[in-house]
Parts: sequence; structure tokens; C-alpha cells
Amino acid sequence: MSPTLTRFAGLAGAALALLAAACTTPPATRGQALYADYCASCHGDAGRGDGPAAASLAKKPADLTRIAARRGGTFPLARVMSVIDGYTRRNDHGSVMPEMGAVIAASPEVMVDTGDGTPVPVPSNLLALAGYLRSIQRP
Ligand code: HEC
Repeated sequence: MSPTLTRFAGLAGAALALLAAACTTPPATRGQALYADYCASCHGDAGRGDGPAAASLAKKPADLTRIAARRGGTFPLARVMSVIDGYTRRNDHGSVMPEMGAVIAASPEVMVDTGDGTPVPVPSNLLALAGYLRSIQRP
């Protein structure tokens, strides 16, 4: 695991409350807007993996409304952030991701307690995006 992935690996759900306090734009609204701009083309408007670009991909985009369902009902916020972050930095997720990497990198960082009492800096746009995905989970 890269240091970045390791850094995000321990993050707990408490992160979103901190973000809400730290940012003026409600994270749900910002996360939804970022999703519409950078993710919906592949993952679909509703997150079900059926965006217009999906058919032309070798690998079917994941159904992002079932992330928790695939993991016994628990939404792994830290893991999702590390997945998004890893994809956007390495660009092995699709051709449109570098732009997203810049958008994430440009957002102010918020300090998030990983659950072990050690706050780590997380780009607020990354947290907002992961929080939006958490809000669209279905059984
Ligand atoms: C170019 C098409 C494309 C775009 C754009 C895209 N994705 Fe993906 N995404 C995929 C594909 C394909 C997979 C499945 C990859 C795999 O399984 O290795 C995936 C998988 C994922 C996963 C893993 C789901 C899981 O359960 O493990 C997450 C999270 C995710 N995408 C989030 C996003 C977010 C957030 C954005 C927008 C910032 C985004 N993706 C933009 C194609 C895309």
C-alpha cells in the first residue's frame, strides 16, 4: 500500500461531521455536484454503473449504490476515499480522471480523526464525494 492509501485506510465515519463543520458548502451538495461532473458518465446518474460511457468500457463500472451491501451493510468510508484517491492519482480508472485529481488536490484539507486519535489531513472534496456515495447506498 502506498503511504496515501495507508493514510486513508484507518479513517472513521466521524469524518463527515468534521467536514460539515469545516466547510461552508454543505458537503452533500458539493459531493453530488462533483459526482455529476466527474463520475456519472461511467457510473450513471443514480450511481448504478449504467452511465452513457459504460458500454464502451472493457470493465463494467461498479454499482456505487451497493458498496455497503457488498460489504455486509457497512459503508467503508476510508476505503472508498482511498479508492477514489488512488484512481485519480494513478489514472488507471479511466481517461477522465486526471482532471478529477486536480479538483481534489485543489480543495482545502480538513483534519479528520482516523479513529485512533490521530487527525490526518484529507482533501475536503474527496471527503464530500465519499460522503455523497455513502448517502446513496441502498440495501
Ligand atoms: C471512465 C469511467 C469511470 C469514471 C469516469 C469513474 N469511474 Fe469509478 N469505476 C469505473 C470502473 C470500470 C470501476 C470498476 C473497476 C474495478 O473493479 O477495478 C469503477 C469502480 C469504482 C469504485 C469501486 C467500487 C467498489 O465497490 O469497490 C469506486 C468507489 C468508484 N469507481 C468511484 C468513482 C468516483 C467517485 C468517480 C468520480 C470521481 C468515478 N468512480 C469515476 C469506471 C469509472
